[in-house]
Amino acid sequence: MKTKKILQGKIISNKKIAPDHFKMAIQNEWLALKARPGQFVMIKVQEKNNDPLLRIPLGVHFTEEDRTYLLYKVVGPGTATLSQRQKGEIVSILGPLGNGFDLSKNSPDKEALIVAGGHGIVPLYMLIKELRKKGIKVAVFEGACSKEHILCENRLKQTGSKVFIATENGTQGKKGRVTDVLVEYLKKYEKNGKRKNIGEKYIMFVCGPKPMIKSVNKIAEKFKINTQISFAEYMACGIGACLGCAIMTVDGYKMTCKDGPVFDSKEIKWDAQ
Ligand SMILES: Cc1cc2nc3c(=O)[nH]c(=O)nc-3n(C[C@H](O)[C@H](O)[C@H](O)COP(=O)(O)OP(=O)(O)OC[C@H]3O[C@@H](n4cnc5c(N)ncnc54)[C@H](O)[C@@H]3O)c2cc1C
Ligand code: FES
Repeated sequence: MKTKKILQGKIISNKKIAPDHFKMAIQNEWLALKARPGQFVMIKVQEKNNDPLLRIPLGVHFTEEDRTYLLYKVVGPGTATLSQRQKGEIVSILGPLGNGFDLSKNSPDKEALIVAGGHGIVPLYMLIKELRKKGIKVAVFEGACSKEHILCENRLKQTGSKVFIATENGTQGKKGRVTDVLVEYLKKYEKNGKRKNIGEKYIMFVCGPKPMIKSVNKIAEKFKINTQISFAEYMACGIGACLGCAIMTVDGYKMTCKDGPVFDSKEIKWDAQ
């Protein structure tokens, strides 16, 4: 059965939750029922005219009953227009799109390491909720430029996950990069010498800016941890028609929108990134 559709959703709320960041709740039963962790939607930011022309891609943050939550940063005209949309208005959404995180590969005794940079936490939050529901241990590593940009911290703690924060300016958590905190965590375990192959204990899920993704991949390779990464390449159509979101993999080019946005880190041709 076709799972992606053009849907009409009613805006239930659209609130600023951090500097430049908005959380939007959209009511549409089908979308809330079908969306899986790691999938995304293409949302038409306004109905009146075609400016900005294209829909913009946003990750599904989480779903609750008949509602789907989005969390976005205002960076340009599309997201700025979206931030002006009011409660009660109708938005057009294409979705849910793409292949999300694959939980079938995770054995329940592995701890899930979640690594998020900036609004990379958006699609990972729904995944964390699902992992916790299955009784899987979760450690979240969240990085941002400063304290005000750390998103969802309390909600993450409420899932019963361990939460480690890093900020570039040191206003919260460890000063520096989130990858430093991740390595510290892995080395502590390695030092305890409980098991030689650290990759047998962990599985990793990642979303964030490209430089962070590349460093996490190096860590995954070093510690031999199976890792799934959500990529946010530039997208125009979101359905595999424009070839605008191609990513080089070991099997040649794939479309991030249709074949991803989540890929196994071993699928990616890293020297082409
Ligand atoms: C699968 C997917 C999921 C996404 N999920 C989210 C999300 O949950 N929350 C969120 O805030 N954003 C998310 N994004 C990014 C979001 O789509 C863009 O920020 C948005 O399209 C920008 O539109 P705009 O018109 O406001 O700005 P534009 O004028 O299009 O861009 C403004 C600035 O942002 C940069 N930019 C735009 N798109 C991207 C991108 N994909 N990657 C890196 N830089 C970009 C541009 O280079 C430019 O500097 C996602 C992108 C993809 C592909
Ligand atoms: S965005 Fe058009 S092919 Fe992926």
